[in-house]
This record gives sequence, C-alpha cells and structure tokens, in this order.
Amino acid sequence: MQIGTTLSQYLIEEQRQHPTATGEFTMLMNDIEVACKQIAAAVKKGQLAPNVLGSAGTGNIQGEEQKNLDIIANKLFLQNNVWRGHVAAMCSEEMDEIYQIPPEYPRGKYLLIFDPLDGSSNIDINGPIGTIFSILRSPSPNPVEEDFLRPGVEQICAGYVLYGSATMMVITTGHGTHGFTLDPDIGEFILTHADMKIPETASEYSINHSNRREWEAPVLEYVKAREAGKNGVCKKNYTLRWVGAMVMDVHRILLRGGMFSYPIDERTRAQGGRLRILYEANPMAFLVEQAGGIASTGYQRILDIKPTKLHQRIPVMLGSKNELYDLLKAHKKYALENNLEFHHKEI
Ligand code: AHG
Ligand code: MN
Ligand code: MN
Repeated sequence: MQIGTTLSQYLIEEQRQHPTATGEFTMLMNDIEVACKQIAAAVKKGQLAPNVLGSAGTGNIQGEEQKNLDIIANKLFLQNNVWRGHVAAMCSEEMDEIYQIPPEYPRGKYLLIFDPLDGSSNIDINGPIGTIFSILRSPSPNPVEEDFLRPGVEQICAGYVLYGSATMMVITTGHGTHGFTLDPDIGEFILTHADMKIPETASEYSINHSNRREWEAPVLEYVKAREAGKNGVCKKNYTLRWVGAMVMDVHRILLRGGMFSYPIDERTRAQGGRLRILYEANPMAFLVEQAGGIASTGYQRILDIKPTKLHQRIPVMLGSKNELYDLLKAHKKYALENNLEFHHKEI
C-alpha cells in the first residue's frame, strides 16, 4: 500500500481482498476513527477546554481514580459505536461489566474492547496519552461476558491511537502493522508508516525502575546486565526510557526497537500484574508480533492465554527479538530452578 493512502482507502482495499466481506468491519473502523478524532480534538485543546483535564472524583472497578478525560473518551467510544449496528457488545477499562447494545439499536457481529484513555497520569502534564482497541468476532448475537474471554490470537484487529506531538493510529488486521498520521488540515489519517518492523537489536529498555526491589530475579538479572553497559555481558551501553503511557512506550519500540516491560512483582502479584490482558496486553502483543517482535509474560506467549476475567491483569514484556531472547532465557533458567512452567519452545 502506498504512503499517502488514507486509512479509509487502506481499509476498503483490504476488504476487497476478502470477496465475502460485507463492509461491516470497514464501517466499524470508520466509527472508531471518528471517536478517536473527537478524543484528539479534546486533547489538543488542553486546559482551554472546560472540564476536559482534571479528576472526575470517581473510581473504576480497578480501584483507580478516573480523570475527566477517561470518562469523556469512554463516552465518545460508546456514542459512536452504539447505534450503527456493527457491534454486538463492548468492554472498556472504565466499565465494570460488558456494555450491551440497548434494544432500540441493531446488534452487529463484532465485540469491541477498549482502553479509552491510556496513560491517564500524563493528562494533566500535557504528556503523551493514547487509546487502545481490540476487535473480536462475537460468537453469539447476544454476547455474555464469557464471549469476551478469548485468547488474543483470535483478535481480528488491534490498534492504538497516540495523542502525541502528532496524532497517529497504528493498526493490524493480521497483515502487518501499519501507522497512519492524522493530517489536522483535512481531518484524515494518512499512511505514513507502512509495514512497520521492530529492529531485532536495540539499546533501549523501558520499565518502571522504582519497583526494582519487588521484581522477580530474571527481570533484575536482565536490567543489571544493561546497567553494566559496555563493561558487562551485553558489551554495549543502554538507555532507559519510561513515559508511563504504554501507547507511547510501545510506539517507540515499534519504531526504534528495545524492550518494554511491566513485569509481575511482589506489589502486584495478588492481582496478577499491572496491565490488563483484554485491552492493553492483547492488542499490543498482536501489533508487536505483526511487526516481527515478541510479546510474553516472561513464561508464555501473551496471545495464547485464555483470560478468565474481564479486567484480568498479566505481566507484559515485549519488543525486539534479541532483547526478548535474553530476558526469556533468564526466565527459563529461573523456571527450571523453581519448578515453574515455561512455554516458549524457541528458547
Ligand atoms: P491507564 O492510564 O489506562 O490506567 O494505563 C496506565 C498504564 C500504562 O499505560 C503504563 O504503562 C502504566 O500504567 C504505568 O504504571 P505506573 O504508574 O505504575 O508506572
Ligand atoms: Mn491503559
Ligand atoms: Mn485507561
């Protein structure tokens, strides 16, 4: 696909590759695109827009404080997708339970899952933030929670929008990972990064270092080797980068390579990790694998995991092949020593 193509044209050309396609998926993507442009417009006004920044004074099911923009972005996703008849039900970080399409609207064949606003702690400091989404085919016209609990390999599309210096949408439908930049003058996403490929070797890693005392041994071993730089086993110097918004941290890895991790640690062990499988780990893992990278919990490929709960959390480590091989080798050694399961046959 040619650089300069609009997202709509890209989707229609993709649709033409599938002679049985009805166009419903393309229309769903169009609705997602509109929601994201509306969120981008609110984000770009910053403090000038009334009641966009700041705290909402409420909490979500995960016990996290909700920001106004978390709620606004969630509403925009619901509003744009509820009436068109393309989705059968939705699931969001900001809603305790699945969202059923009200009876006055037709139900479609897709399940839409999203983190409406990722990196909420960056909102009030004018930092990079994003939206993450994942699309599954609904196994039933009247889906229940269980229908959302499917391994990431079943995703038919995943993507994120980064509200950074420029607004970008990066998507995969299983045919590579492609990046589109929003041209603010014409209001269209334009293909600027076709078939993104994560460099196999890199010298950056991304992890919240303040949790170091709580990490498992293999994560500590990996990081210590990087800290040792050219005097250690890596024989080169590394740089640490941590934005605190997964969308931005993963976007950097797609472009420049490296390793991103939010591992399980003693602080988050009881809840299974920090990041959520359905709307953070799975879509990012799909995008990373389609760009030639690896996405793991440390012990298992993320996309193979069958979730058991809607807001389930898991450990995440993803990025460049050679960085991940080092990290996974350390996990394999630790698994053998501690009688833990390790599923990566390639290591
Ligand atoms: P969200 O804003 O959707 O709750 O997600 C924030 C996530 C993720 O984007 C980021 O990598 C991580 O939380 C940051 O967590 P810490 O503040 O613990 O570093
Ligand atoms: Mn998030
Ligand atoms: Mn969020």
